[in-house]
Amino acid sequence: MITGLTHLHSSFRYVVLLLLVLAIIDAVISIAGDKTYRKQSKMLALFALIFSHIQLLMGSVLYFLGNRGAFASLLEGASTMSNPEARFFAVEHMLAMIVAIALITVGYSRSKKQEVDKKKYASILMFYSIALLLIFVMIPWPFMKDFGRWF
Ligand code: HEM
Repeated sequence: MITGLTHLHSSFRYVVLLLLVLAIIDAVISIAGDKTYRKQSKMLALFALIFSHIQLLMGSVLYFLGNRGAFASLLEGASTMSNPEARFFAVEHMLAMIVAIALITVGYSRSKKQEVDKKKYASILMFYSIALLLIFVMIPWPFMKDFGRWF
């Protein structure tokens, strides 16, 4: 079951990234075209929020029960901090993703509270863009030089 959940968590990265990119493109086009806030824009932003929260849920289970033993290695302390792979999953990936998902949540709820349509789109654009960047950088891509290291 844990192996299946790890595969699901791994595949869901593409769904989250795609939804964030689509919500951001939609916000840019809507701001540029001075469009009113449409239902499809709200749905895109909402689905990005929902899928990022599903990732948070799956990640939390993997953090405590996953094959890498992220939480157990956190408790080991110093030896984990000097091992880039263990540190990445025990601290860096988890913290960065929680911050990114919090940004998505703030961006979505701020957009709901705004009265002016342009400001609704601006909130999605700003918060989702920062979250997208953070998520992209902190995914353990196979082409990374090392866990969490791009160069
Ligand atoms: C949008 C958010 C997230 C994305 C896109 C994401 C993506 C990924 C990816 C691609 C992997 C590699 C899976 C593999 O080995 O094939 C992974 C592993 C992992 N993630 Fe996330 N993650 C996210 C959020 C989180 C959060 C919030 C947590 C913790 C609270 C977390 C905990 C973990 C753990 C513990 C692993 C290692 C699983 C294992 O191999 O046992 N993730 N994540």
